Amino acid sequence: MRLDVFLAPSELNPTALDGRVVAVIDVLRATTTIAAALFAGARTVIPFLQTEHAVRAARDYERGTVMLAGERQMRAIPGFDLGNSPLEFTAARVANQTVLLTTTNGTKALLACENAKTVLVASYANFTVTLERLQVALEAGDDVAIVCASHEGMPCLEDAGCAGRFAGALEAANDALIVNDAAQLCGLLSLQYGDDIVRLFGAAAHGRALHKAGFKNDLYACATVDLYPVLAEFGNRAIVARAAGVSGAGV
Ligand code: MLT
Repeated sequence: MRLDVFLAPSELNPTALDGRVVAVIDVLRATTTIAAALFAGARTVIPFLQTEHAVRAARDYERGTVMLAGERQMRAIPGFDLGNSPLEFTAARVANQTVLLTTTNGTKALLACENAKTVLVASYANFTVTLERLQVALEAGDDVAIVCASHEGMPCLEDAGCAGRFAGALEAANDALIVNDAAQLCGLLSLQYGDDIVRLFGAAAHGRALHKAGFKNDLYACATVDLYPVLAEFGNRAIVARAAGVSGAGV
């Protein structure tokens, strides 16, 4: 049984994720926001690389059933219904809606992993239910991987810390688990900050940028473990909420 952590999607070679159950992490803020949207009752979240692709796709939906969401430089995209703050994704705004989402790093990382056996959308906010799903995968004999979205291609503290929390828990529960060096590095980082995740975000470049840009409350939401306890799975270009223990791959 193997667990490999990738600190940025650029570290992935074409076959690295073949046959694996993968958790993609962009805690500030895309994967937290996706968990928030699904927890608030959104029908599905569909990731896009480009703004114009999302705008074009929105035309295929019945009026009133689709929301455009996303950010550039942390700010909501002009003309879109929502930005990328998890706090905007309330039941009143997104219940039963299809959310078309484009962000700088998170949606790119998800699309880079779509050929894996199973792709989970992971964050601190849906930590436990995602950890349980990764454990089910290991017990079923699947290798797992954690892919950090990184920040503009560079490894970032916030994603590495979250990856380390997952790696530490999986290593503790599986004596025979083989992990790569990046998983061990992340584990040490997670131990360094423990549950003081807001302090970890304060040490992270993107965390400081979000604070400076006025998104302090987002940092608290993104740092709250199990705030949005939904198992989010990406498959066939769409992210949906899954019941714990159930996956599109029938495991
Ligand atoms: C991203 O995908 O790059 C982040 O989620 C950006 C952000 O929300 O600040």
